[in-house]
Amino acid sequence: MSAEEDFSRSVVTEPHSGGLIAEAADMIGAAGSIVVSTGAGMSRESGVRTFRGEEGLWKEYRAEDLASIEGIRKDPALVWEWYRERLKACQELEPHAGYYALVSMQNGKGILPLITQNVDGLHQKAGVKDVIELHGNLRTASCIDSCGVSRVQMTGDLFEKLPPRCSCGSILRPDVVLFGEQLPEQALSRAFRLADSCDLMMVIGTSMVVYPASSLPLIALRRGVKVIEINPEETPLSSLDGVLSLRYTAGSVLPELVKAVYGV
Ligand code: OAD
Repeated sequence: MSAEEDFSRSVVTEPHSGGLIAEAADMIGAAGSIVVSTGAGMSRESGVRTFRGEEGLWKEYRAEDLASIEGIRKDPALVWEWYRERLKACQELEPHAGYYALVSMQNGKGILPLITQNVDGLHQKAGVKDVIELHGNLRTASCIDSCGVSRVQMTGDLFEKLPPRCSCGSILRPDVVLFGEQLPEQALSRAFRLADSCDLMMVIGTSMVVYPASSLPLIALRRGVKVIEINPEETPLSSLDGVLSLRYTAGSVLPELVKAVYGV
């Protein structure tokens, strides 16, 4: 089974509640600056697997083998094969209607920028501008021994012989945040600043268990700012005061929300 098989068939869709969507649309309409924060669930209806849950990647693979520096050093060819397949799948996948709804919101409302834990590049593919990638990206790689070579484009040539090597002789590592690593400093401080200054936050498709992304809506809530959560399942955020939790999938509810706000 490929890592990015189409899981959209098993997505739960329930009849949407007009009342809650209208309430969320009013909140969006009234807010000055909106910040959107997304996780793996945002991409699920495009065919990208989430990390947790019944069909999650971490049920099938060990995170420490594939997503840690020790794992890459131990078996770099295996790890690179995995990232090569993930990259290939992500390049072939298309953003679903929910992605384009966020682009329309950005155009209509100026939601800038968008924070994501995802490395799949689908927000950029849909046309969102200024995406803050908290967990890095699948587009580039850097020297594992920090010789100074960084942001090498992950193109076909790089994968001819695995693992790809840096010009210094060490192996390259993908520019995704691995377990135990710090998040990119600039991205993180921008995300904190946005959480601390927005009028409304939308949190889409994250289990809310990975820090520091999980703390962003809490920062907003502490200031009395409302949060709209979109997730078919309950999370630690869902029942907090100030949270409107829409238990729907991103691909089904975001287009409805945008229609309710802008009438298109
Ligand atoms: P998770 O896999 O932990 O959670 C995905 C969430 O998406 C769950 O709460 C699902 O209920 C929800 N979901 C599933 N389908 C959805 C849909 N169609 N629409 C909306 N929501 C849906 O993913 P993250 O919270 O993003 O880190 O995980 C955070 C980090 O854990 C990842 O970035 C990754 C992983 O280890 C690194 O690789 C550093």
